[in-house]
Amino acid sequence: MLNEFTLFTIFNIIFYKMVLFTILCSKLTPTKMFSMKSSALFTSHMKCIYRNSNRFFSDKCKSEEKVGEAWPRRVVTGLQPTGELHLGNYFGALRRCVQLQEQGDDVMVFIADLHSFTGRQEAGELQPRTLQVAAAALAAGLCPERGVLFVQSAVARHAELCWLLACLATHARLAHLPQYKEKAAAIKEVPVGLLLYPVLQAADILVYRGTHVPVGADQAQHLQVAAQLVRTFHHRYGRAFPTPRALLPDDGSDRIRSLRDPSKKMSKSDPDPKSRILLTDSDDAIRLKIRKAVTDFTPQVTFEPESRAGVSNLVRLHCLARDLVPEEAVSEAEGLTSAQYKEVVASALCECVAPVRARLADLAARPHLVRDVLRHGAARARLRADEVYERVAELTGLRPPAALSDRLVN
Ligand code: TYM
Repeated sequence: MLNEFTLFTIFNIIFYKMVLFTILCSKLTPTKMFSMKSSALFTSHMKCIYRNSNRFFSDKCKSEEKVGEAWPRRVVTGLQPTGELHLGNYFGALRRCVQLQEQGDDVMVFIADLHSFTGRQEAGELQPRTLQVAAAALAAGLCPERGVLFVQSAVARHAELCWLLACLATHARLAHLPQYKEKAAAIKEVPVGLLLYPVLQAADILVYRGTHVPVGADQAQHLQVAAQLVRTFHHRYGRAFPTPRALLPDDGSDRIRSLRDPSKKMSKSDPDPKSRILLTDSDDAIRLKIRKAVTDFTPQVTFEPESRAGVSNLVRLHCLARDLVPEEAVSEAEGLTSAQYKEVVASALCECVAPVRARLADLAARPHLVRDVLRHGAARARLRADEVYERVAELTGLRPPAALSDRLVN
């Protein structure tokens, strides 16, 4: 890289010398020549420098990317069974997984039941919720044959790798994360599991050598922890994982806001059920929740997420449901009051949710089908995780190196 930069500097020095040489050889005086050509020459040279420096820096980025590109692209993400999935989960993660799978990606989705223990978890509720979230993934269109759908706890390697990574993570780094601070501040006895949440999340991804992780914006910092753990692991033991990166879209689907308090994200744990639209909500429930959505006193519909979070959230939902850009949604709303626009948004969302809800109802009547998908998915996930974990075990010294272990067995 240093060499490239040196070459780039030498190129510029040579270029200036050539300019000087041309000036000296020409019959034009330098002043005359500059008066005629200087601006064009200077502009074209600046463009050239700009292009070259861009190439230099983009090559630098590419060479960093190459580290990730050396590993096959694999999409991995998880959904907690802490409640029914809402439109934030659907637009923020699930629907994007389905789209990526349709585009040919190798997509692994798991139900993060171990993560759900970091909050209060009733033993009797875990199984039905796990099945329901798995059914929602299928109802959203995830194809279990093309991808892998499974339950996190069915693959013990997640927890095994989590322990090794936990020994590389520092307490200071984890305790500094805003999500941890916020959750820990709300409880008296803070479980250690809450601190380790992002480490288990890193293990979930790395144990499959996940390269791309579709998540909502709330998970971006957890992905940074995962990337940091990859670096620490490489530094201490050698290369075992690609650096995973969050797939955050630019259509705003990664940040769906609460319908009751647009300063907060739409969340499963919000005590107000009107704050979120569930994938199981009836048309009537959707219409009611949208009608009750908090906006402001300005009657016109505009898209200004910073200053008009409530109405902009509705525009966002409208766009996601109908595949529009905000300008199109706003122009559709021209001449409508907020109340009239809410009816338009509600209709769009009803249309979007109805087919998912119907498939969910169908799957709810056939839980054995969902269980079969999960069993089959776990078997495939275990094979993949075993392979990666064996490499980790060798690198860390938990197992003898492969060649040596063959000799020991024979
Ligand atoms: P969970 O179940 O809380 O959320 C599931 C996914 O939904 C996204 N999400 C949102 N996206 C947009 N707007 C919202 N209002 C909104 N609310 C939630 C979340 O960002 C998430 O992508 N920590 C994960 C579960 C997990 C995981 C993993 C994810 C465990 N291990 C490994 C990726 C990779 C979570 O928050 O789940």
